[in-house]
Amino acid sequence: MRVLPIASGKGGVGKSLLAANLAIALTQQGKSVVLADLDLGGSNLHIILGTPNVKLGIGSFLNNKDLSFDQIIVQTEYPGLRFVPGDAEIPGIANLQSGQKGKLIRRLKGMEADYLVLDLGAGTNFNTLDFFLMSGRGMIITTPNLTATVNAYLFLKNAMFRIMASSMKKKSEGGQYLESLKKEGQSLQRVYIPRLLDDLDRIDPKNAAALRESISRFRPRLVFNMLEDPKDADRAGRLRKSVREYLGIDLEHLGVMYRDDMQDIALSSRLPIITYKPESVLSQAVARIADKLIQLEGEDEGFLEFESVDESYQVAEMEAETDFDARIGYVEDLLHSGALTTGDLVETVKQQQYEITQLKKENRFLKQKLTQYMQKNSKA
Ligand SMILES: Nc1ncnc2c1ncn2[C@@H]1O[C@H](COP(=O)(O)OP(=O)(O)O)[C@@H](O)[C@H]1O
Ligand SMILES: [Mg+2]
Repeated sequence: MRVLPIASGKGGVGKSLLAANLAIALTQQGKSVVLADLDLGGSNLHIILGTPNVKLGIGSFLNNKDLSFDQIIVQTEYPGLRFVPGDAEIPGIANLQSGQKGKLIRRLKGMEADYLVLDLGAGTNFNTLDFFLMSGRGMIITTPNLTATVNAYLFLKNAMFRIMASSMKKKSEGGQYLESLKKEGQSLQRVYIPRLLDDLDRIDPKNAAALRESISRFRPRLVFNMLEDPKDADRAGRLRKSVREYLGIDLEHLGVMYRDDMQDIALSSRLPIITYKPESVLSQAVARIADKLIQLEGEDEGFLEFESVDESYQVAEMEAETDFDARIGYVEDLLHSGALTTGDLVETVKQQQYEITQLKKENRFLKQKLTQYMQKNSKA
């Protein structure tokens, strides 16, 4: 089974739209597909899919021992498409425990299908990162809007840190080096990853080789959505360039989708656009993406496996502390290259004020979790 996670740095960029329509498009090519709503806490895929009456979902499965995974699976009206609802009705499920995450991943991977399409929540929550890294070939979706591309870039950067944390155990030479960078107050996010890898080659050759091997299998794919004008596609080129230079990875361009007014009509008719108007520009774009994915079959395999909980917390802590610096760093890069307009800047400043508040909140939450975890462990 091929896993196709769909992620984004920012919300409202079209993840769920792509997930639902792509899943249907794949079944139209004769593939069997499982579509799962992993935007826990913000689940709305059932509405987009046109099955608004689902009651049970992942939240109920994780919170109710008597419920089997099979009981939450919905057989849709589309032949070959099964749906695993998330359910937003259960508060708190957005912050999955590591054990719950592992259980969920095992169940999903245990299903039999050609494709497993995952609709993820926005942003770099560590659960989202781990779902994304179930495949080395996950899709990141963004609009040409500056904030959205900056957030897409940061999402990928955090995914790189997650890969690093899983290759470099805390006690290893390389792990110690990463820790020391953090302690020196020299933000990890400010470090060029290609240069960091060179340092690790010297410090901890064995682990660095394993890390390079993982990174070589990490080849995420980009989908650019809500284009208004062909020149909007330039932003995609810029994003790919930053990703290559600063993260040392190649971002494959999987496709573009224009903004299509037909989508609003499809939405109010409660049908996915690919069913409602197969000949629309947007439906055609999704179908092309499905074709391309099928052509590329055979290239992707499983990716990261999940180990102990403390590593997740380790990387999560890293993120919350350093995310903001990177955001500024990236904007500075764009500023020097003359790529920003005044409007872009105003938007960015506003967004950053919001982000600071969010990151502070997240950081508090994670610290609290970490303390609880350590207390539990020291008692055991
Ligand atoms: N290419 C497009 N053309 C028109 N509307 C779109 C397009 N892509 C997404 N939308 C609309 O934008 C909104 C956000 O999309 P959604 O898939 O819910 O985003 P996300 O899941 O990333 O939060 C929805 O109302 C959706 O119908
Ligand atoms: Mg969504």
